Amino acid sequence: AESVRVALLGCGTVGTEVVRLLHEQAHDLRARVGAPIELVGIAVRRPNRVREGVPQELITTDALGLVKRDDVDVVIEVVGGIEPARTWLVEALRSGKSVITGNKALLAEDGGSLHDAAAEGGADLYYEAAVAGAIPLLRPLRESLHGDRLTQVTGIVNGTTNFILSAMDSTGAGYSEALDEATALGYAEPDPTADVEGFDAAAKAAILASLAFHTRVRAADVYREGITEVSAADVASAKAMGCIIKLLCIASRTKDGGVSVRVHPAMIPRSHPLASVGDAFNAVFIEAEAAGQLMFYGRGAGGAPSASAVLGDLVAVARNRLTGARSSSESAYADLPVRPMGEV
Ligand code: HSE
Repeated sequence: AESVRVALLGCGTVGTEVVRLLHEQAHDLRARVGAPIELVGIAVRRPNRVREGVPQELITTDALGLVKRDDVDVVIEVVGGIEPARTWLVEALRSGKSVITGNKALLAEDGGSLHDAAAEGGADLYYEAAVAGAIPLLRPLRESLHGDRLTQVTGIVNGTTNFILSAMDSTGAGYSEALDEATALGYAEPDPTADVEGFDAAAKAAILASLAFHTRVRAADVYREGITEVSAADVASAKAMGCIIKLLCIASRTKDGGVSVRVHPAMIPRSHPLASVGDAFNAVFIEAEAAGQLMFYGRGAGGAPSASAVLGDLVAVARNRLTGARSSSESAYADLPVRPMGEV
């Protein structure tokens, strides 16, 4: 069969793993898709950087030119940030190219533009890697659970803060000491603001809430409180009450028919399934009217886990291209009012 031609935008930690997996799993991917997957170009900012296992002849600095190429069927974006990623992806989708992105900031800030461009171009838009890395979570929300009515989504969706809070709980350390440990071990970024102030979790909460409740929630709609004020004394008193403090994202239906979306530290009983999620792991607990309680658990960050999510999306969109199918990226979209702290 004719091959499915892929352009990769970005070749950092995740992009390099995508290239490696595409190469290593080429045989299996071909069998699963029903056609070979061919990587035709890789757009990067620094072309001379050494990237092990990445074919130098595919490297270009002209991302927009690559996106516009007639022989590209699928665009994978793992650059991040709002611009120029939005311009590239809107261009790709409008011209009917399938897009796979891990760009949570863009989806949470202006996912509407991407969804609209996908509808316009009749193209697929998949973004499993954007929330909770390797954990298959977005497709269950937009496909498997689609016949059900969700009532609440509660998640630990930031690994850095979960590592810090878990360390404070197990060692009695204070916030700064635990942050230093997270930094030394490479969990926390040199500038940890986006994680510890809850911005990263709020972006993910917006994406989850949009899918769970078929609406468009933006990061700015999410009530947000980080973990910088959580003290050793708070952790100790939670412990004394049989509880643990976690940075939770909580999206629920409100009594008045809207959606409430918030991110803040919360005490949960040690008997709750989310209490045992330690280290830098992520987990999302879903409550649905018919399905009852479900929990998804796994690695929320890292090159290989995120690349696993990207490749899963790639198999889906490649199959769709071969069969002429298209998966709606936001199902039965209804404009529900968002009330960050609404009564649930
Ligand atoms: N900084 C994020 C985290 C990475 O700690 O979970 C994944 O988005």
